[in-house]
Amino acid sequence: MNKTLLLILLLGSPFSFAEKPQQAGIASAHPLATAAGHEMLAQGGNAFDAAIAISATLAVVEQQSSGIGGGGFWLLHRAQDGKNIMIDGRETAPAAAHRDMYLDENGDVNRDLMLYGPMAAAIPGEIAGFAHIADHYGKLPLKQSLQPAIRAAEDGFKVYPRLVKHINNKQKVLARYPSSKAIYLPQGQPLKVGDILVQKDLAETLKRVAEKGPEGFYEGETAEKLVAAVKANGGIWTLDDLKNYQVKERAVITTNYQGQQLITAPPPSSGGIALATMLNILQPWDLATMAQADRVHLVTEAMRRAYRDRSLYLGDPDFVSIPTQRLTHPYYAAGLRAAINPDKALPSEYLPGVGDSPKGENTTHFSVIDAEGNLVAATLTVNTGLASGFIAEGTGVLLNNEMDDFSAKRGVPNAYGLTGGEANQIEAGKRPLSSMTPTFVVGDDGVAVLGTPGGSRIITMVMLGILDYFDGHDVKSWVTKPRYHHQYLPDALSSEKGTFDADTLKALKAKGHTVKVYDGQWGNMHAVHWDKKTGEVNAASDPRTETGSAVVK
Ligand code: GLY
Repeated sequence: MNKTLLLILLLGSPFSFAEKPQQAGIASAHPLATAAGHEMLAQGGNAFDAAIAISATLAVVEQQSSGIGGGGFWLLHRAQDGKNIMIDGRETAPAAAHRDMYLDENGDVNRDLMLYGPMAAAIPGEIAGFAHIADHYGKLPLKQSLQPAIRAAEDGFKVYPRLVKHINNKQKVLARYPSSKAIYLPQGQPLKVGDILVQKDLAETLKRVAEKGPEGFYEGETAEKLVAAVKANGGIWTLDDLKNYQVKERAVITTNYQGQQLITAPPPSSGGIALATMLNILQPWDLATMAQADRVHLVTEAMRRAYRDRSLYLGDPDFVSIPTQRLTHPYYAAGLRAAINPDKALPSEYLPGVGDSPKGENTTHFSVIDAEGNLVAATLTVNTGLASGFIAEGTGVLLNNEMDDFSAKRGVPNAYGLTGGEANQIEAGKRPLSSMTPTFVVGDDGVAVLGTPGGSRIITMVMLGILDYFDGHDVKSWVTKPRYHHQYLPDALSSEKGTFDADTLKALKAKGHTVKVYDGQWGNMHAVHWDKKTGEVNAASDPRTETGSAVVK
């Protein structure tokens, strides 16, 4: 046998370990964030340094979606050793939080308290996430990777329509707090498209982090200002809550679909488990050749069952025991599949059950592949658009309203219509259940990195993107395709306008689905694809929003 052939047989194809993308692709929700990521790569950083720069810049220019007053999940793949890990920088309930904290004297949920102002805010995790990624995975110091964000805060950026829409929607809440008013309603009027938004206090806070690391946020001047502002406005944070915040490394959820490996978000995200359940149910069916109504029906029935399990079982894994192995096992999915009637929708109330559900539209996602083959899929959030509406005086930090991701009372839906049970009830130090689903699909021929904001619909949007990838379509198609969704309760198949033609709608109704077509558009997906056969990298941003930015170089 010739020596080269023997070597190949012993070591495997030389291409399987030597291959690298050669180019880097980044897709994010704003051109300044995408540019910040490429800037770090040009300075010798890797995808992880780029992820910090992108996250921090989004925290300045896309505050309606994420920020250092919020948190998120960074899914990482390190090419040098193949390590896959999720960095969990999810917010946590403060120590004084308790199950009934949002119930009024009649036992009803006080929605205002849960959604607006400092009582709505959990302890932020984003800065702790940056520091952890820089220390353990990056090549550059935080001082360097935070520079583009500091620049954007100091020099300002051009206000765009999507931001203005959120300011207008939240005007009344923003007007309650002088610190929020000063930023978003200068001279008492909402910012307009084209205005330049400068954030000096936020720049100073970011500089303290650049100088001191996470202590620049969780201790000292920033922490004191945050706690003072929260307390002065009726909140319950303490200095210890901030000092005790812990970022976590979480083992990823993996599953196989059509011969490719899916690597996705574990709890406290509900996304990975639900995605695995749905794809396991769908696995044996040849969806690509089905009539649209038949395909949508089966996909919807898979969604219904996975979201029912979400309500029943999922919460912070440090507080509740989650049957992950069972929920992601192909045999479990086979049982669920066996009970699906190809001709008839199952009313959700017939599923053995809970009375719980999901949520959210205003989160952000970005995807990165660097030239070494390192991958990042990150989904970050402050929860609803412009979050609690409360900027802590003197810090520039807009606080999240992530407490609304907990289930405040059994059967009472949150902002996303999701209901939940005991697994996701409020407890001190607990992380609220999330739907954020940053995901990699890894096959012999290529790698896909994707995710999206969109509250309870995140998981199904990611799945529809994945199914489109398996249909053989390109990255532009995954982020563009019309979207539909079912979340167990409410028992309705909802869709963007134009998703189904008249015949499909009729066929779905005949199968027993209640179909609700919405006017608005859902999600803001940003995805990158590396074709291993050609070495080509392609990136695409959702056409639904005006600031998406996908750049390969
Ligand atoms: N705040 C939205 C989510 O985490 O799912």
